[in-house]
Amino acid sequence: MTYKNKIVWITGASSGIGESFAKAYYREGAKLILSSRRTEELERVKKDLGADDERIKILKLDLALAHELPAKANEAISLFGTIDVLINNGGISQRSLFAETEMETIRKLMEVNFFGSAALTREVLPVMMEQRSGHVIVTSSLAGKFGTKFRSGYAASKHALQGLFDCIRQEMYEYNVAVTMVCPGPIKTNITMNSLTADGSNFGKMGALHDHAMDADEMVDRIWGKIKSQKEEIYIAGKKEMLALYLKRLSPALLNKILKNSKVT
Ligand SMILES: NC(=O)c1ccc[n+]([C@@H]2O[C@H](COP(=O)([O-])OP(=O)(O)OC[C@H]3O[C@@H](n4cnc5c(N)ncnc54)[C@H](OP(=O)(O)O)[C@@H]3O)[C@@H](O)[C@H]2O)c1
Repeated sequence: MTYKNKIVWITGASSGIGESFAKAYYREGAKLILSSRRTEELERVKKDLGADDERIKILKLDLALAHELPAKANEAISLFGTIDVLINNGGISQRSLFAETEMETIRKLMEVNFFGSAALTREVLPVMMEQRSGHVIVTSSLAGKFGTKFRSGYAASKHALQGLFDCIRQEMYEYNVAVTMVCPGPIKTNITMNSLTADGSNFGKMGALHDHAMDADEMVDRIWGKIKSQKEEIYIAGKKEMLALYLKRLSPALLNKILKNSKVT
């Protein structure tokens, strides 16, 4: 698989995992569309990559604004004439007890993480179906596989993505459009700082779990071979999180016992 002149659209490209995906695809010769809300940060990413106007376009969007997303997707398609790879990566996390969390906060998590990605994918798939090739990548999470404390809305949104994209994958086989779910454990990015608390305000600090985690460039480097081979699911996490993933399959009751006593930040 070569990415020379392939068109790659990345949401959440202004920091963390999305920025690292941008670096990796750019290195391999792709043309990029970088999206998120903060244009100045997207410009910084573009500049760090070499400010290449021919190969890097910026498209500002807010994944929470569902009504704007079909037009944004059409704008993205028109920038280079098609989309070969869509990376649904933009997202926010959560740090709050469900019983104390406003429903608006749960809805925001679902809007950004689930409905935003669903809406963009729905617009891009017909283009990929028409060209009989494409790759949709979703940055899900191990929280899409099992729940822990303080992540109710986040885990719900990631579980919803898993269900949605399992179905899309089945539908897309005959069109040669691949779907990859990337399920990371803790990665050292701004995700914790930007997490929503009960009332929807930002958590604003780094959690211990993420402070000592692998960084996003290393994460993307380590999964790059699997991305290129369009693997259907990719897990990238420490030993403890991987063990939890296997326990969820083999003995969910045992996992629940372990998790209920775990310190979750
Ligand atoms: N870091 C981890 O431990 C971890 C683990 C598993 C999964 N993930 C997933 O990885 C993805 C990327 O997160 P990250 O770790 O790289 O965190 P991050 O550094 O906070 O990046 C989040 C990205 O999402 C964008 N974003 C947030 N809200 C948005 C909105 N309403 N509209 C458009 N873009 C929005 C942000 O850009 P703007 O602020 O510019 O809009 C930013 O580029 C997320 O889906 C997250 O759930 C992260």
